[in-house]
Amino acid sequence: MAGLLHTAPPETISAARRIMGLDPAHGWPHVLRVARLADEIIERGKLAGYDREVLATAIVLHDVGRFLPGEGHHAVKSAEYARGLLSRLGWEEARVEQVAHVILAHSYSLGVEPKTLEAMILSDADKLDALGAVGIARVFHTGCQLGRSFSESLRHFAEKILRLPSLLRLEASREIARERILIVEAFVKSAESEGMMWLDESDPHGSGGEVGRRH
Ligand SMILES: [Fe+2]
Ligand SMILES: [Fe+2]
Repeated sequence: MAGLLHTAPPETISAARRIMGLDPAHGWPHVLRVARLADEIIERGKLAGYDREVLATAIVLHDVGRFLPGEGHHAVKSAEYARGLLSRLGWEEARVEQVAHVILAHSYSLGVEPKTLEAMILSDADKLDALGAVGIARVFHTGCQLGRSFSESLRHFAEKILRLPSLLRLEASREIARERILIVEAFVKSAESEGMMWLDESDPHGSGGEVGRRH
């Protein structure tokens, strides 16, 4: 079966690419990886009984809100954008709302429980992209944008990244996570033994003083 993204309306793909740009952590490349992970979850789990067009469209649009002007949670802004675009494309309201639910439920911080299989697949695929080698690269890329020190980025693994597997809904996603979490754990261990946790702090002698300083 062709990859999920082939199922999304071309208008949604061109809009998302234009709005999101090529930021490797959260832009269009993230959408490409999430679509691939969703394909892998579906294949491993032999999942059926989901609406491919709804899922693919939600994947394409789920993070556009990060790049749109205005206040508010990015998932709410993405869902609003999807409602407008899909209505203009002539989608029935019920299917538009299915897409909106998948988008709203992808974000853990928003607290919307995934109620449909499509929503569980996107929520899981999005979290898997925060694990493994890509997950490590994303933490440091974003950390650099936010002016975080190495030790602050490293702390983000313990505070958020290593907790993500417990939030996964589907068994197939947990299987994929097992391999990816080993990569993150090995990285964190090496980073600590190499001194990443304290050698970028304010103490000029590198003796591991106060942590949490911003550059
Ligand atoms: Fe998101
Ligand atoms: Fe995302």
